[in-house]
Amino acid sequence: MNKILEPVRMDLPHLAGPLPGPRAKAVMERDARAVSSSYTRGYPLVAESASGAMVQDVDGNRFLDFNAGIAVVAAGHCHPRVVDAIQKQAARLIHMSGTDFYYDEMVTLAEKLAEIAPGDVERRVSFGNSGAEAVEGCIKLARWSTGRDKIIAFFGAFHGRTMGALSLTARKSVQRAGFGPLIPGVVHAPYPNCYRCPFGQKEETCAVECVKHIEETLLKTIAPPEETAAIVVEVVQGEGGYVVPPKKFFDELARVARQNGILLVCDEVQSGMGRTGKMWAAEHFDVVPDIFAVAKGIASGMPLGATVARADLMTWPPGAHASTFGGNPVCCAAALATIALLQEGLVENAARMGAHIRSRIDDWPARFPTVGQVRGLGLMIGIEMVRDQRTREKAPQIRDRVVDLAFERGLLVLGAGENSLRLCPPLVVTREQCDFAVDTLEECLKLAV
Ligand SMILES: Cc1ncc(COP(=O)(O)O)c(C=O)c1O
Repeated sequence: MNKILEPVRMDLPHLAGPLPGPRAKAVMERDARAVSSSYTRGYPLVAESASGAMVQDVDGNRFLDFNAGIAVVAAGHCHPRVVDAIQKQAARLIHMSGTDFYYDEMVTLAEKLAEIAPGDVERRVSFGNSGAEAVEGCIKLARWSTGRDKIIAFFGAFHGRTMGALSLTARKSVQRAGFGPLIPGVVHAPYPNCYRCPFGQKEETCAVECVKHIEETLLKTIAPPEETAAIVVEVVQGEGGYVVPPKKFFDELARVARQNGILLVCDEVQSGMGRTGKMWAAEHFDVVPDIFAVAKGIASGMPLGATVARADLMTWPPGAHASTFGGNPVCCAAALATIALLQEGLVENAARMGAHIRSRIDDWPARFPTVGQVRGLGLMIGIEMVRDQRTREKAPQIRDRVVDLAFERGLLVLGAGENSLRLCPPLVVTREQCDFAVDTLEECLKLAV
């Protein structure tokens, strides 16, 4: 384990001056003129270099990164083994287009993903460049292989921003506004959230109620089983607030899918690749998806997405689906290096560090009146901020203040959902770095009231 951690920076934050510094300000001014106005930047971090869980900005400030590039750099920033794999591959073969030619790296990665996929099921893999593309692949394959067009997705879901993935996304109106019409045939169901049961029920009843809504309302009205291709679900809702559903939800969902010949499609884009302390979040719930989407952590920062399906489903004919860059040799090499590191100890480290953080923060609702709930799996931890624990009134402003205060202290965190904080550090994070993050957040929680 130490062999994996030692080569990356394990130090703690150091701020050289006020934020943002002069160089950061200059980049931000140019960015405001040249880059799309649609990007959401919460605080002025202008990154220059990074290693492990540490990021250095253009003014020499060092931050502890509890975002991991939004749950992407699984093996940490610039892990030497990932960098080495990229450099060697780039010097040998950068591109060939797997759509029309063969190369070993794509086959090896497909074999590896099939080997580590949940369930004892034969798998085949289609490659793209992003999470959204991986989800597009799921939608297309589900429709093609069933001959049905309807898809059931969930409120609060985030599946990406291409037109298909966006049609499933139901997180914030700004993400969909002005882009319609989206693809037809998509309907949404409530996602179980025990803290905020969409049916106003007591804990865990939400799971049963949500699936009942699918079975007794959607399937009997606007999404009849003979027209419904798939239920697409985030195993842990990510952008929606790091919401962990009860196991009962997946038991019921799998039953409804099975009984109606509907495919169960899991979006593991954010929750996969060791993030939750197991390779796949699905493993926590004994879920074996028919098809699942992977991206983010798969190649520790290189753009790669994968649609992994039951082999008997992925039988579409040549030309039906492909991507010029998807699964290019350099990204595949980075992914193979990342998966090796995950298997050599990083998934275990995620479980251990996640448990350590939880042992220090699970009592926050008792200690901080603005913390409503602490939840999560492994290093996918959500902290729901409220104005009043009794009424559970949401407190997005307090959450935003905590994020800003943390930044001013050298800790990078992000929000998720309307009023939650998310902690998703690289899986190489150390105990000392976790303690720094917890201590810093405790200080910020005291200040942000
Ligand atoms: C669960 C989930 N699916 C899909 C996506 C889309 O991924 P990308 O931004 O790589 O297209 C995201 C991105 O946040 C995600 O969290």
